[in-house]
This record gives sequence, C-alpha cells and structure tokens, in this order.
Amino acid sequence: MTLLELLEKESLRFLLFGGKGGVGKTSNAAASALWAAEHGRETLVISTDPAHSLGDSFDQNLSGGEVIPIKGVKNLFGMEIDPRKAFEQYRDMTQQVDAGEMGGMMGLEEFTDMNAPGSDEALAFSKVLEFIQECKYDLVVFDTAPTGHTLRLLGLPEMLDSFFGKLIKLRLRFSNLFGRMKALFGRGDSEQDQSLQELERLKETISASRVELSDPNLTSFVIVLIPEAMAVSETERLLQALYEFEIPSSHIIVNMIFPDISDCSFCQSRKAMQLKYLTTIHDVYDDFTITEIPLFAQEIQGVPALRRLSTLLGTGALPDKGEK
Ligand SMILES: Nc1ncnc2c1ncn2[C@@H]1O[C@H](COP(=O)(O)OP(=O)(O)OP(=O)(O)O)[C@@H](O)[C@H]1O
Ligand SMILES: [Mg+2]
Repeated sequence: MTLLELLEKESLRFLLFGGKGGVGKTSNAAASALWAAEHGRETLVISTDPAHSLGDSFDQNLSGGEVIPIKGVKNLFGMEIDPRKAFEQYRDMTQQVDAGEMGGMMGLEEFTDMNAPGSDEALAFSKVLEFIQECKYDLVVFDTAPTGHTLRLLGLPEMLDSFFGKLIKLRLRFSNLFGRMKALFGRGDSEQDQSLQELERLKETISASRVELSDPNLTSFVIVLIPEAMAVSETERLLQALYEFEIPSSHIIVNMIFPDISDCSFCQSRKAMQLKYLTTIHDVYDDFTITEIPLFAQEIQGVPALRRLSTLLGTGALPDKGEK
C-alpha cells in the first residue's frame, strides 16, 4: 500500500510523521494532509514540535494554538500546539493541586511547574490527546518534533495516566481530612468534586487515546529519513521506541535523494554515498513500504510546492520488495 493509498484508507484517523531533525517531517506531513484534504477527507494537520514550522511550510501564520483553515484549500485545517496556552488551560487544575510535600513524595511536582523539563510537552500532549478524543476530523496528521523529543512524547500517555491517577488517589485519600484538603486544593466541596471529575475525565481521555494510538486500523507512524549514516542509526532508535509503545508503523519516506547529474562530480559523489545507504535501508526495512523523494531544486514552501511533493508520495514500495 503506497502512502497515498494509506491516506485514502477510510479507517485511518491518525497519521504521525517523525524522524531526525531537518529530514523533511513537516514538509511530508503537510503534503500528506493537503493530499488527503484535496481527496475529500476533512483533515487537520497539527504540529507538536515546540519549534513550529508548519506555518512556514504552508506559508501562513498558524501560531496561537487554535485550529486555522488553510487558505485556498477546502477541508484542510492547521494548528500549532502552544504549550503555554495548554498550560493556562490546565493551570487552574494544577494550582488547585498544590501537592506540596505529599506531591513531592509522589513525584507530582514536576508537572506543577511550567519550567520543569518535560512539563511543556506533557501539557501540550494532554491537549493533543484531548483532540484525539474530541475531534471531528476524518484524519489528523501529526507533524512531530525531532526524534528525542518525540520519543518522550510517545511515552507521555503512560506517564500522564499515572500522574492523573496519582492525583485522583491523592484527592480521595485526603477527602475526609477537610482541613488538610483545603490546604491541598483550596476549594469548597462542590469545586473539589468538579476538580476530581475533571481529573477523571482527563485520565479516561488519555487511556482511550492510548488504545487508539496502538490500533493499526486507526493509526500509523511514518518515519522520514535521509539516506545518510546518522539518519539510519536514529531510525533504529525510533523504531525500537515505536515497538515499545506499540505504535503501528509500516511506511518510510527516504527524502532528499540526489538527482543523477552526469556532468557534476560533486553530485555523483553524493549520489554514490546516498545509494549505499539506500541499499541498506531497503535491505533492513524490507517489510516497510519505502517511498523515495528526490531533492527539489528549491525549498518546499506553500501549497503549490506541497502539492508537487504530495503527488510523489504515491510512488510507493520498490516493485521487487512487494508491498505491505
Ligand atoms: N525533498 C526536498 N527537497 C528540497 N528541500 C526539501 C525537501 N524536503 C524538505 N525540504 C526543505 O528542507 C527544510 C527542512 O524540511 P522540514 O522542515 O520539512 O524538515 P523537518 O524534519 O520538519 O525539520 P525539523 O526537524 O526542523 O522540524 C525545509 O526548508 C524544506 O523546505
Ligand atoms: Mg518540522
């Protein structure tokens, strides 16, 4: 099944693009979303990378953490997750849970401090997970951050699940100690109940998303790489993590393949280097559909350029490797 066929698969709801920095994740995520939208699927493309470039790719401002229609394209919407905004939305909840000493003992304090490492991702991802549950789009395409960041992100549902689970336990454990409760939550009874309900709702959302993200009928993670040694080794790490977190993956895009220009010795030398890695990629990942994308003469920016890229996504697996 080529990537374009995958995009047409009716059951597919979540398509994630990931890989090393600068390999073309955003461009390919944007092009795929564009293709799906132009083939009748109501599509949202969402960036979870704190250093957003989805807006640049579409040549349109998508900042602000809101869903924004992509200009001139029917059925297509973009969104750059704003961790600060997600934080505002959850601050109320986390402020009520000034878990203090008790929270420290339970490992909660990292989430109540916006500056703590990982908390921006955690909050941004809570937002993403909420979207997964609530969204009415036929397809949601994720443009993720470079590998290291994305690996942490993929581990977050478990972490958040246990975090909210701990909060709920904490809340229940102290619900009878009303003085202590006030110190913990600073709220009246009905507000406390509401806060508990919110936490439970969030926990359910996260668990449900976790199930959906590991269902191969609903979800697929596309690995983008360039044919060079470092990208290949990083792909191994990414695949290992996808396997651990049970995120289905069956497609690889090898991007920025050098053109064959016979009178350019520099190009010939790069091409030969890339061919070596291309062969390895096909050998090692022979159970994946591999799409090869050439290096364009210009950067890929704006809808017409993305459209040109999208048509190449249909040139799926090598015929001798069979398809998956
Ligand atoms: N096949 C290609 N040919 C030419 N330029 C490309 C190609 N693919 C991507 N680019 C350009 O390379 C740059 C990086 O691409 P892109 O932003 O898609 O990568 P990324 O993996 O999302 O990067 P980051 O890790 O920074 O998010 C962009 O300027 C893009 O236009
Ligand atoms: Mg990017």
